[in-house]
Amino acid sequence: MNLWQFWKFFGLICAFLMSPAITLAQVDEARVQRIISGSCFICHGPTGHHTTELIPKLAGQNAEYIARQLANFKNGTRVNKEMAEMSSKLSTEEMLALGKFFEKQN
Ligand code: HEC
Repeated sequence: MNLWQFWKFFGLICAFLMSPAITLAQVDEARVQRIISGSCFICHGPTGHHTTELIPKLAGQNAEYIARQLANFKNGTRVNKEMAEMSSKLSTEEMLALGKFFEKQN
């Protein structure tokens, strides 16, 4: 993602956060967007499509599986230095919300 795309993405998030008619689902989505734009996008891309030999695709993956892997990274069942740090601050609720977001990205 180049700088222009990043600002467009950021602008969208701001517009989203300032929307007066925020429903509960949108709050979840906004929180997910904040988490992704704060760190995940660097490696996984904003929609989980970015992949390399070492970075797995998250787009279209099952929500429960994603939440499970994040929990495993956090509790040390699955070992990966980057992901241990990335998941350390996530709550169970956020893990599932992230999973649901990536599951929807085809
Ligand atoms: C510094 C790069 C980096 C960042 C930032 C990052 N990840 Fe990852 N992620 C990885 C790598 C590398 C793996 C593969 C780990 C392995 O080999 O076990 C991975 C694996 C995963 C997996 C497991 C996928 C699978 O198919 O099993 C999930 C889910 C995931 N990341 C979600 C996230 C989320 C959510 C964030 C933001 C909170 C995030 N990642 C931030 C590098 C990153």
